[in-house]
Amino acid sequence: MASAKTIAVIGVGKLGEAVIAGLIGPGKWQSEAIQGTVHHEKSIERVKSRLNIRVGTNNIEAIKNKDIVIIAVKPQNMDYVLKEIAPSLDKKQLIISCATSVTTAYIEERVPKGVAVVRAMPNTPAVLQAGMTALCAGQSALQEHIDTAEAIFKSVGETAFVDEHLMDGVTALSASGPAYFYVVVESLAEAGVKLGLPRETSTLLVSQTMLGAAKMLLSSRSHPALLKDTVTTPAGCTIDGLMELEEGKLRVTLIKAVIKAAERARDLVNTQTAAK
Ligand SMILES: NC(=O)c1ccc[n+]([C@@H]2O[C@H](COP(=O)([O-])OP(=O)(O)OC[C@H]3O[C@@H](n4cnc5c(N)ncnc54)[C@H](OP(=O)(O)O)[C@@H]3O)[C@@H](O)[C@H]2O)c1
Repeated sequence: MASAKTIAVIGVGKLGEAVIAGLIGPGKWQSEAIQGTVHHEKSIERVKSRLNIRVGTNNIEAIKNKDIVIIAVKPQNMDYVLKEIAPSLDKKQLIISCATSVTTAYIEERVPKGVAVVRAMPNTPAVLQAGMTALCAGQSALQEHIDTAEAIFKSVGETAFVDEHLMDGVTALSASGPAYFYVVVESLAEAGVKLGLPRETSTLLVSQTMLGAAKMLLSSRSHPALLKDTVTTPAGCTIDGLMELEEGKLRVTLIKAVIKAAERARDLVNTQTAAK
């Protein structure tokens, strides 16, 4: 069972922290089974104040005797981290990389031949077990490795398996996605304020409405347009609101935003200055 396995998380930053927080819990991972690392000594206190796990700055020590090594550092730090841990990795260990833009081939070139690599693209709602993670596998990954990676990310939300060439699109859609929705919520809440609602109430109305709409989509598996039609009464008020959205080019703006983010995701590992 995946939860009997031990995990090292290299890079307990925003994403690493969200994933670990989602993983620890009754019937899931024990905090003793997870060890994390950060780059700066001062970050240790930050992690310790939020997560009850062992944490330090020594990656070699952290990966020792771990079944799974999750890497959640910035893309530009991957080369350094992989070269650092490569001599200490053994073939039984599974590497799961969450780094944007870094391919399984890139990782396989830097670790001993035969080490299994799975690439994961989660998002921060993992902290509340409401994450969305896309997975793809490297050349040496067997079904058991894919199953292990899936079990890890299923315990913090939903998972989907995709071809690796689609991972930049996934990054732009579901990894960046929470940011788009926060802007939508902020804007709609502003509208409520303009109409006289207290900001707190307005934000609650919008957030719960977004959650409800997502639940309707997930439970019905209906096309979003069909669900939209159920809310849109002929000659009612929703159609007037929708017409404004069309005039403001909401659809094309969202499509272009995701395409732009995917283009950036494709280049991230190459365009940033190498840093330790
Ligand atoms: N944030 C998201 O929503 C999200 C979603 C999907 C994928 N990702 C990907 O996940 C990765 C991490 O993103 P993030 O937003 O979590 O970044 P972040 O908050 O900057 O976290 C990166 C962490 O890596 C640590 N680190 C850097 N170099 C290290 C080293 N040599 N050894 C050990 N730890 C090291 C940093 O330590 P210090 O704290 O000491 O600096 C920091 O805690 C990126 O590749 C990103 O593209 C992020």
